[in-house]
Amino acid sequence: MLTGKKILLIISGGIAAYKSLALIRLLKKSGADVRCILTNGGSQFVTPLSVAALSEEHVFTDLWSLKDESEMGHIRLSREADLILIAPASANLMAQMAHGLAEDLASTTLLASNRPIMICPAMNPMMWAHKATQDNLQTLIKRDVTIIGPADGDMACGEFGTGRMSEPEDILSAVKNYFESNKPLAGKHAIVTSGPTFEPLDPVRFIGNRSSGKQGHAIATALIDMGASVTYITGPTALPAPLGAKTVHVETAKEMLSVTQDALPADICVCAAAVSDWRSDAIATQKLKKTKSEDSLTLTLVKNPDILHTLSTHKNRPTLVIGFAAETQNLDDNAKAKLSSKQCDWIIGNNVGENNVFGSDQNKITLFKRDNQKEFEIADKTTIARDIADEIIHYFKIQK
Ligand code: CTP
Repeated sequence: MLTGKKILLIISGGIAAYKSLALIRLLKKSGADVRCILTNGGSQFVTPLSVAALSEEHVFTDLWSLKDESEMGHIRLSREADLILIAPASANLMAQMAHGLAEDLASTTLLASNRPIMICPAMNPMMWAHKATQDNLQTLIKRDVTIIGPADGDMACGEFGTGRMSEPEDILSAVKNYFESNKPLAGKHAIVTSGPTFEPLDPVRFIGNRSSGKQGHAIATALIDMGASVTYITGPTALPAPLGAKTVHVETAKEMLSVTQDALPADICVCAAAVSDWRSDAIATQKLKKTKSEDSLTLTLVKNPDILHTLSTHKNRPTLVIGFAAETQNLDDNAKAKLSSKQCDWIIGNNVGENNVFGSDQNKITLFKRDNQKEFEIADKTTIARDIADEIIHYFKIQK
């Protein structure tokens, strides 16, 4: 869950520093890269060696270390982190932060930082309750510092009250929640249709198409990565369900339409499915036999419902409805015509004649909006999906 997230953990002075060792292990186990600054006070309780062994990184302790400064530098140390976590945060470090003091590596790094900060205070209950600490706390809250704890309980000094550092498991959940809720599409529901539909002719035959579902799958994954909750409605493909999506398997266009409508309301709908336009007017209950007397077979096909158009004109219409235009010729004209006839917000045009798009890992798209269009470089379908997700994020930022 925290894979690739860079966390700078500052361990300041307090008996709770021993719990930070467990916290490093939990963060690492969740996939985070953890770099640590150990203050002078912190090193009275845990050693740089144990912190280095658990974080598997060099531990930074000294502002005036020529070696550390030449290799990393406190400015880079602060700027490279996705999150600065202070656990334990002593009353002294909170006071330094509130008053903008830069006295050692930790306080200097914090003052030089533009990264989000989360603190886990730990101190004697009287120190915590003191007006000076509470004033400092309010200052930090006003500056958008996130505060975790402290908890109530028995203190190492023998007193009872509020001041225990939160347990490492609780701090880990707060860190995970932080990254989840800060994803740009957190709280948004997206429906993604994907893959082909199969329209049965008889119990063994169907009308289908060559769609692999790879682009829709990649879009669902990109939206999940950006924090959206995704309902992924897919026709028959060889792909596994995207991790974290609510996946519904369907066969026919009619089933896809019904499941898609059931999934409403949604903020976003991406219709990436290659829906069969036609279905047999009468599905034979038994296998169709070839007759000796006839050299040809006539099938009567009827039009399938148009899922994209239905959603675009639905009373519960998603805020942003996106369709695809898979074309073998006249991409611009056909895509623009689809934008208007389907009444959706965007059409992603792709030339399925070129680049062997169906089944391939590559795609080349042009995004048609109502008032402009944007061409993207040919790229793998994962990159294209991220480009589309970025466009969606941008759309919702402007909407706010
Ligand atoms: N679509 C849909 N339901 C259908 C047919 C298409 O939701 N019955 C959606 C597709 O998911 C895609 C868009 O409409 O987002 C355009 O699909 P495409 O096959 O390119 O266009 P068609 O509407 O089928 O038109 P044509 O086959 O004439 O190009």
